[in-house]
Amino acid sequence: MNLKGTYTADEHRYDNADKMFARCGRSGVLLPKISLGFWHNFGGTDPYQRSRAITHYAFDHGVTHFDLANNYGPPYGSAEETMGQLMKDDFGRYRDELFISSKAGYDMWPGPYGNWGSRKYLTASLDQSLKRMNLEYVDLFYSHRYDPITPLEETLQALADIVRAGKALYVGISRWPLEALKVAHEYLKQRDVPLLIYQGRLNLIDRVPQDEGILDFCASNGIGFISFSPLAQGLLTDKYLKEIPSDSRMARNGSLRPEMLDASLLNRLQQYNTMAARRGETLARMALEWILAQRGITSVLVGASSVGQLSENLKCIDAKPFEEDI
Ligand SMILES: NC(=O)c1ccc[n+]([C@@H]2O[C@H](COP(=O)([O-])OP(=O)(O)OC[C@H]3O[C@@H](n4cnc5c(N)ncnc54)[C@H](OP(=O)(O)O)[C@@H]3O)[C@@H](O)[C@H]2O)c1
Repeated sequence: MNLKGTYTADEHRYDNADKMFARCGRSGVLLPKISLGFWHNFGGTDPYQRSRAITHYAFDHGVTHFDLANNYGPPYGSAEETMGQLMKDDFGRYRDELFISSKAGYDMWPGPYGNWGSRKYLTASLDQSLKRMNLEYVDLFYSHRYDPITPLEETLQALADIVRAGKALYVGISRWPLEALKVAHEYLKQRDVPLLIYQGRLNLIDRVPQDEGILDFCASNGIGFISFSPLAQGLLTDKYLKEIPSDSRMARNGSLRPEMLDASLLNRLQQYNTMAARRGETLARMALEWILAQRGITSVLVGASSVGQLSENLKCIDAKPFEEDI
C-alpha cells in the first residue's frame, strides 16, 4: 500500500473468494461477508489518509462493498465526499469491482423536502449523493428509515423509478417494520425491481430483527439481510471491559453514550468475552461469527477506526461452529 503514489489493488484480493462471498437473497449479487460502513471515521473531520488506508486494506482483502448515506460525516455529506475523493485518487479504475450503496431518510437539508420518504426528497438526495461521490450510479440505494406518514407506495415507486432512471442498480430498505417490509417486497416485485436487501441492526445484544420475524421473512422471500453495527458500535469488543479508552467512540459521547454500559450489560459482555477466549478468539471476532451463523444473513457491515480493527474483524470468515447456546 502506497499512500503517496498510485494505489494498485493487491493481486491476491480474491484468493479467499469461496469463503468471502455470499449470495444476496435470490439475486445475482454476491456480497462480501464483511462489508465496510462509512458512518463514522470517514467524515470531513477524520484524517483522510487514515480513511484511505482502511479502504485500501478492505479492498485488498476482498471487501468490495462500501456502505454510505447522505448524512454520514460529520458534517453531513462529507463521508460521500471522502468516497468521491477516493474514486478520484484510487478506486476509479476499480469501479466495476465495487458495490457502493447510499441512503436517504434522515434529516439532510432544511425545510420540508430534506427528510423522510417523499419522492421529492429521495430523488433530489440521490442526485446530490452521486455528485459528492463522483459516481454515475450507485449499486444500491436505500430508503434509510420507515416514514409513517408518506404513503409507502410513493416511497417505493420513487425507488423503482430511480432504478429505471439508471441512478441505482438495486434498491433496499433499512429499519422498516415487518408489515411495511411485506408491502415493499410485494410492491417492488410486481414492478420487476425486486427488493435486494434489508439493512437492520442484529448483534449479540440486539436481536430485534430476529425476534420480530424480519430475518425469517427475508430468508423465506429471497431478500438479503445485512447487519449494521454488528459490534454494537464497539461494545462487543474487549475495549470497554475495564475502562472507557480516551480514543474510543464512547469517549466521544455521540452515538454511543456511557450510560448504555450499565452493570448488567457489562456482566453480559464479560461472559461473552470468556466464551470467546475459550474458543481462542477475540470477542469481536466471535460476535461477528455469531451473526454470520444466523439463517438469512448475507453480510456484517462493520465500522473501523483503524486498519488493525478491520484486520481482526476479517478473521471471522474462518468461523468455527457454535457448540453452546449463546
Ligand atoms: N441503516 C442504519 O440506520 C445504520 C445505522 C448505523 C450504522 N449503519 C451502517 O453500519 C456501519 C457500521 O456501524 P458501526 O460503525 O456502528 O459498526 P460496529 O462494527 O458495530 O462498530 C464499529 C466501531 O467499533 C470499534 N471497533 C471495530 N472493530 C473493533 C475491534 N476489532 N476491536 C476494538 N474495537 C473495534 C470502532 O470504534 P472506535 O472508534 O471506538 O475505535 C469502530 O468504529 C455504518 O458505518 C453504517 O454503514 C447503518
